[in-house]
Amino acid sequence: MVVFAVARKDTTPFDGQKPGTSGLRKKVTVFAQPNYLHNFVQSTFDALTADKVKGATIVVSGDGRYFSKDAIQIIIKMAAANGVRRVWVGQNGLLSTPAVSAVIRERVSADGAKASGAFILTASHNPGGPHEDFGIKYNMENGGPAPEGITDKIYENTKTIKEYLIADPPDVDISTIGVTSFTGPEGQFDVDVFDSTTDYVKLMKSIFDFESIQRLLTSPKFSFCYDALHGVAGIYATRIFVEELGADESSLINCIPKEDFGGGHPDPNLTYAKELVACMGLGKSSPQDEPPEFGAAADGDADRNMILGKRFFVTPSDSVAIIAANAVQSIPYFSSGLNGVARSMPTSAALDVVAKNLNLKFFEVPTGWKFFGNLMDAGVCSICGEESFGTGSDHIREKDGIWAVLAWLSILAYKNKDNLNGGKLVTVEDIVLQHWSTYGRHYYTRYDYENVDAGAAKELMAHLVNLQSSLADVNKIIQGIRSDVSKVAEADEFEYKDPVDGSISKHQGIRYLFQDGSRLVFRLSGTGSVGATIRVYIEQYEKDPAKTGRDSQDALAPLVEVALKLSKMQEFTGRSAPTVIT
Ligand code: G6P
Ligand code: ZN
Repeated sequence: MVVFAVARKDTTPFDGQKPGTSGLRKKVTVFAQPNYLHNFVQSTFDALTADKVKGATIVVSGDGRYFSKDAIQIIIKMAAANGVRRVWVGQNGLLSTPAVSAVIRERVSADGAKASGAFILTASHNPGGPHEDFGIKYNMENGGPAPEGITDKIYENTKTIKEYLIADPPDVDISTIGVTSFTGPEGQFDVDVFDSTTDYVKLMKSIFDFESIQRLLTSPKFSFCYDALHGVAGIYATRIFVEELGADESSLINCIPKEDFGGGHPDPNLTYAKELVACMGLGKSSPQDEPPEFGAAADGDADRNMILGKRFFVTPSDSVAIIAANAVQSIPYFSSGLNGVARSMPTSAALDVVAKNLNLKFFEVPTGWKFFGNLMDAGVCSICGEESFGTGSDHIREKDGIWAVLAWLSILAYKNKDNLNGGKLVTVEDIVLQHWSTYGRHYYTRYDYENVDAGAAKELMAHLVNLQSSLADVNKIIQGIRSDVSKVAEADEFEYKDPVDGSISKHQGIRYLFQDGSRLVFRLSGTGSVGATIRVYIEQYEKDPAKTGRDSQDALAPLVEVALKLSKMQEFTGRSAPTVIT
């Protein structure tokens, strides 16, 4: 066994190491500065109780973006020096964010140990490469992101750090499965490189009926296209859709993970998942071949998802509502019923209508998956989702891109169980239209203004808050812009009291709620790494089944006009059009 020594290295604090809800995200050039990553990792170890470090097992892996391999070797050496007993690394350093959550919750070592936490190396849907983003976040033993109490402590530590501990074992070959053991001052230290997909696949098999999904995927009537945007989802897609479920390999596009995501923006939406959008017949020019029946994409770390039908886009807000409405019949994990459902505030109210009809507990939380985690730990939420292409359930404590696809395939398999040998296929579009005719339709769109001057963005938000003091004035302005929209009945900044721990989160988005159920919501993104991103969420409810088939941008045009003029978007930001529309 190789023996290592531990050194204490002097360091000085870096500004701005405050982890957001999704960890610390910065340009690779920032992370690559000497001691930058080291300071953050040591500050994290110091923020945890000793039992989560000394003698503990921790997971270190991520979406494989540029700088991950260097970061993994550094974290292994620092873990060894801090008295960690064992580090689990997915082969090649790859584990999707949901897979990390699953590994923390499910994996057990030969001697019965479970992981006490994980460093997840990802900047999610942000581009990767030497000049792009890297990120690191810490998840706790429930498989979910560290709560604010811990991230605040980490930040405090980064402001005063004077030294960090690092050991000097040789680099470990993370491309080969197996255990490498070392001996240090505190005894044995193991690095266990394991298959990145096995634990996750096992969990998915315990949730879904793989046989019925296989019948659908291998039916000549069905066709499928999955785009991993060169993120880590590719390895799970290959293993699950092709090897386990029998889909043809040609169903997968961009499924080889790349450090720079092939130069693309690994965010599964209609703007960035261009190849998939074109293949599904939703692009500007029609595809050469008949589009597949079902399409889906994931972001870099595979927690987000986009669901498409043939020439048809399913909004994430509709997606979670439809999954919730069909889960009990279609997905064995939910067969005994749902404990409750939840959505983030800016997500459309489609889920609310399902919850009401099915008499389910319902929660509206601020943006950020951690709020769902609390509800799940308390056993009151089974399925949840966000407009930002996140959908998931209480099987783990992160959103789960592959899970969402399997959920949709399960619904399709269930609806088509008698159709595969004869009869017309029930399509994604059929399922959505049927849902609208039962529950009504929430027309929905989101306008993003990325990389806006941060000062200008703040002023715009302040202007919108100021306006809220007089609804009469607001309504006068709105009537002047469009006389065909309904009146604002209520306007506020969303505030949330967590029903589980009683904590209060303020300033979670500016809301204008209209008498007819329409909503305008304005928020500043919490996940960007340069400037500010303004998000405008626009929603209108239509109950009349005769009117649920309109083009969404047409139906929403009056409200969009009101949103942009009321907020003085162009005046404040200088932008005449959004960067992305979803
Ligand atoms: C991450 C979080 C999500 C959240 C999203 C919002 O993906 O995990 O829970 O919805 O960020 O991002 P935004 O940029 O709108 O703050
Ligand atoms: Zn992500």
